[in-house]
Amino acid sequence: MTAKRIADGVYYTGTIDWDRRTFDELVTLPRGTSYNSYLISGTSATALIDTTEPSRAAELLRTLEEMDADIKYIISQHAEQDHSGTIPELLEIYPEAEVIGTPACIELLQELLRINGNFREVKDGESLSLGDRTLRFIVTPWVHWPDTMVTYLEEDGILFTCDFFGSHIATSDIMETPDDFLREAKRYYAHIMMPFSQMVASNLRKISELEVSMIAPSHGPVISEPGLIMDAYDTWTSGGDGVVIAYTTMHGSTRVMVERLTEKLMELDVSVRPVNVAEHDTGEFLTELVDASVLVVASPTVLTRPHPAIASVLYLVNALRPPLRHVAVMGSYGWGSLIESEVRKLLSNLNVEYLESVLVKGLPVEEDLQRVDELAMKIKGVNGW
Ligand code: FEO
Repeated sequence: MTAKRIADGVYYTGTIDWDRRTFDELVTLPRGTSYNSYLISGTSATALIDTTEPSRAAELLRTLEEMDADIKYIISQHAEQDHSGTIPELLEIYPEAEVIGTPACIELLQELLRINGNFREVKDGESLSLGDRTLRFIVTPWVHWPDTMVTYLEEDGILFTCDFFGSHIATSDIMETPDDFLREAKRYYAHIMMPFSQMVASNLRKISELEVSMIAPSHGPVISEPGLIMDAYDTWTSGGDGVVIAYTTMHGSTRVMVERLTEKLMELDVSVRPVNVAEHDTGEFLTELVDASVLVVASPTVLTRPHPAIASVLYLVNALRPPLRHVAVMGSYGWGSLIESEVRKLLSNLNVEYLESVLVKGLPVEEDLQRVDELAMKIKGVNGW
């Protein structure tokens, strides 16, 4: 694609994946995505920040050829292949180019791409002169691997952030913030950043000291109002007080309980979001967890255990460690159930308190539903609503 100028001597050279619909074979991408790279042309040298997915290499190389780019530095902010995947081809064209990254990034590049080249490890705060432009590297680990750093273009106040502040949005209007930007950025945060929320918050504080005029991530549009996404990240890393009900149902008994709990919580003015995990996409469910402090797991019993659709999302919750404080288990069974103990095992990474379970034999009767009402009252109490 044709490069787009985003500031004097600074060009967007990204590739747009309009049709990609899943990432990591896990989370759906309703808006596609992009793999952004940026060319910075100084009076004495030119640097490329990040590259693109291996499958998009030809597109990036064509753009750089059209620009007659003479790349001296390849800045690798993160070794994951969606950003580093074209470094091997670039090194064939620019064999003298230096590949610059954190020590952890350089090590990963060599392991993931099996490349040789001129590598330069940088320390936190180190600068690189391009003549009239200066790049400062700021080490920001765990956004989203241990190797990550961001790059600050001092003269323009542009912060290049790779995955940090990214969104999976394919758009030709790279400089415009779409109406649903924060929703997609939040979905992205849930999938990529949520397991490292404390490190994300710490890195957020670190870069807050910079005068930033524009954030240029390596997925999604350039953000011309940095406060918009930085405030959102501040909120997301702080957790929330919502209730998410992850449920599925086989013959309707569990659904009856979920509907009663949802109604009761709404009556109590508690923010609640039931998600039928067998019908909704994983990204939507994870996005809801960013603001949740209570997770209610509601499942029918399948051969004494939770339904596999529930077990699958709990595996993910356990890995992504949302900021939950309480978990409650509801469910139905025919002759016996180990749902509660299985949920505890599946969520063993979480430091949460369990509320009293509501497990019902067969179709719930009014007495059972009153126990659901009591659970709603308890949730309201622990959540401080
Ligand atoms: Fe967009 Fe962690 O790679």
